[in-house]
Amino acid sequence: MFKKIEAFIRETYNCPKAFLPLHEPKFLGNELKYVTEAIESTFVSSVGKFVNQFEESLAEYTGAKRAVAISNGTSALHLAMKIVGVDQSSEVFMQPLSFVATANAAAYLLAKPHFIDVDLDTMSMSPEALKKRIEKSCHFTNNRLINRQSGRQIKACVPMHTFGHAARIDEICEICDYYNIAVIEDAAESLGTTFKNQHTGTFGTLGIYSFNGNKTITSGGGGAIVTNNEKLGTLAKHLSTTAKVPHAWEYKHDNLGYNYRMPNLNAALLCAQMEMLPSFLENKNNTALKYKDFFEDFEDIIYKVAPAHCNSNYWLNAIQLKDNSTKDLFLKEMNENGVMTRPIWQLLNTLPMYDQCPSGDLDTSIFLADRIVNIPSSVIL
Ligand SMILES: Cc1ncc(COP(=O)(O)O)c(C=O)c1O
Repeated sequence: MFKKIEAFIRETYNCPKAFLPLHEPKFLGNELKYVTEAIESTFVSSVGKFVNQFEESLAEYTGAKRAVAISNGTSALHLAMKIVGVDQSSEVFMQPLSFVATANAAAYLLAKPHFIDVDLDTMSMSPEALKKRIEKSCHFTNNRLINRQSGRQIKACVPMHTFGHAARIDEICEICDYYNIAVIEDAAESLGTTFKNQHTGTFGTLGIYSFNGNKTITSGGGGAIVTNNEKLGTLAKHLSTTAKVPHAWEYKHDNLGYNYRMPNLNAALLCAQMEMLPSFLENKNNTALKYKDFFEDFEDIIYKVAPAHCNSNYWLNAIQLKDNSTKDLFLKEMNENGVMTRPIWQLLNTLPMYDQCPSGDLDTSIFLADRIVNIPSSVIL
């Protein structure tokens, strides 16, 4: 069975023998031209025309009022949580099925992650699980949601749009609005994905993207914060630029700021990648259709299609195998044969830094962690 899958993937990627990566960047447009222009301008650090150009193009593309270029997705998450007031007395709702950065960002602020289960189809935070956990373990007083056991306030909720498939973000926002919890969308993987025709990242108080080398488009390393709140957009820009008060020569900083701005050199690369995004998305959707058709013939394998109301960017294609031992066999055989495949992340609540953190029932996360693998997903030339 695995041989047939390998042959199909190799045929799809027109790669009969060589190593086949999971997701490699493609530089097919103005990348070299813009990077050269940035170098020749000598503006290679966090000031320069490409930073502004990128911020404008991301805001226009996503429909967000403001977009702020950040050095990477992890620092964007850290800053977003800081902005909504996450601190050492807080807990942050998040799914255990995510990249470690989601939990690390809360831990940088000495807050505790509080884990909420995911849905089977979206692989992202489940609104039912969120509601159930709140009703079972929290009380709501003076507009504050408090974990009854720890006494900590839930300040933020960070749903993550797994592999580009959208969470049921409207329902999550509705629950969080009611309990006065800020929603920060971890849209690191889902640039270009829409839910009910609105871009993921733009539903919550703040949203973040990653432009790491393995993402749909890349700046080498990079990230962004988007928001529809002008004041928070201005604050994000200020705090990411060492909170420096603009002045021709004085060094005046009016807050604890961070050096989290994206350098102009990276923004130059990213501006060229932004131009390619629509064609990359179309290409990835075509590949997803091929995978979907192919896996329909397998009784024990489920190809994870875009859930309801979601136009997915299909960042990483995912299949659900029969059980944990099949998953291990699949990974071994594919990787030994040069077809790069990866398991979904180890659940965050099982990592040594987070294994004492509060959590609801995580049955679906455990089920998926045992079965999901990612298969090659690059843009096909
Ligand atoms: C879900 C998620 N959150 C956050 C990040 C962090 O982004 P970065 O690698 O740009 O720091 C990533 C990816 O790398 C991610 O997949």
